[in-house]
Amino acid sequence: MALYCVISPGGSPGATTTALGLALTWPGSVLLAECDPAGRRVLPGFMANRMNESAGPGLLGLAMAADTRANSPVPLEEYVVPITDDDRVELLHGLRDPRHGSLLKHLWHGLAAAAVARDGDVIADLGRVGGSDTPTELLRAAHAVVMVLKPTLQQVDAARPRLEALEELLGDRAPVGLCLIADGSYGPAEVERVLGVPVLRELPYAPSEARVLSDGARRRVTFRTSMLMQSLGSLGRKIKSTAAMRSDAVPALEGAAL
Ligand SMILES: Nc1ncnc2c1ncn2[C@@H]1O[C@H](COP(=O)(O)OP(=O)(O)OP(=O)(O)O)[C@@H](O)[C@H]1O
Ligand SMILES: [Mg+2]
Repeated sequence: MALYCVISPGGSPGATTTALGLALTWPGSVLLAECDPAGRRVLPGFMANRMNESAGPGLLGLAMAADTRANSPVPLEEYVVPITDDDRVELLHGLRDPRHGSLLKHLWHGLAAAAVARDGDVIADLGRVGGSDTPTELLRAAHAVVMVLKPTLQQVDAARPRLEALEELLGDRAPVGLCLIADGSYGPAEVERVLGVPVLRELPYAPSEARVLSDGARRRVTFRTSMLMQSLGSLGRKIKSTAAMRSDAVPALEGAAL
C-alpha cells in the first residue's frame, strides 16, 4: 500500500513518538519501520513490558538477508513483530548498534519496494534528515513525508535547508507537510509562511502522554482518549487524505521507478 516517512530537522522534537502514536491510531493495518540510523527506541521503550518473546533481529536481520539474497525481494514480513495484540500494528525494530549503520545503505532500495508492495501501510521513522546516512530511497518512494518540529527559531532554522533539499529530491513526487509539537513561540501560520510548507497538524505538548509512547511510562486510563492520541488520529487521517489527493492529481507518478 502506501509508504509514509516521518522525519525531523534534528534536536529531538518528537519524531519517533509521533511516528509510534500515528501507528497506534492509524486507520487500518500499519507497520512502523524504525529506519533512523541513529538507533531503535520502541522496543526498549513502549514495548519494554510487552514483549513476551524475542523480537528477532529486526532491521539488522533484514539488511543481512537482503545482502545475502541480492536481486530477490526483501523478505520484510519475516522480520516484523506485532505491537498490538490484534496484530493490526506491527514493528520493524531498528538498529541497536550504530556501528551496523553501514549495512543499511544496501537495504533501502529493496525495503522501499517491499513497503509499497505489502498489504498494509508503512510509517517509516527516518529521524533527522540531511546527513549522508539519510535513506533517500525511502523518501523518493514515499506517498507523503511529514517533518516533525517544534515552532522555535532553532528548529525552523534547521528545518529550512533540509526542506529545500527534500524539495529538490522529491519535486512533485510526494507531498511534504509539517507536524508541530506545540512547544515554542511561533504559531502554525508563521511557521507555514516562513518555511513555505503546510502545517498538517499541531500536536499538543503533552509530556506525560508522550512519555507513555517514548519511554513506556505507565498509562493513565485516559491515555487512549487523551488530546494527544486524538490529535495523532486526526494527523493520520490528514496525511492519508493529503497523499490521496496528490496521487489523484498526479497519476503518472504513482509507482514511479525508484
Ligand atoms: N507531543 C509531545 N509533547 C510532549 N513531549 C513530547 C511530545 N512528543 C515527544 N515528546 C518528548 O520528546 C522527547 C523526544 O521524543 P522522541 O524521541 O520521539 O524525539 P525524536 O525527534 O525521535 O528524537 P531523536 O532525534 O533522538 O530520534 C521524549 O522525551 C518525548 O516524550
Ligand atoms: Mg527518534
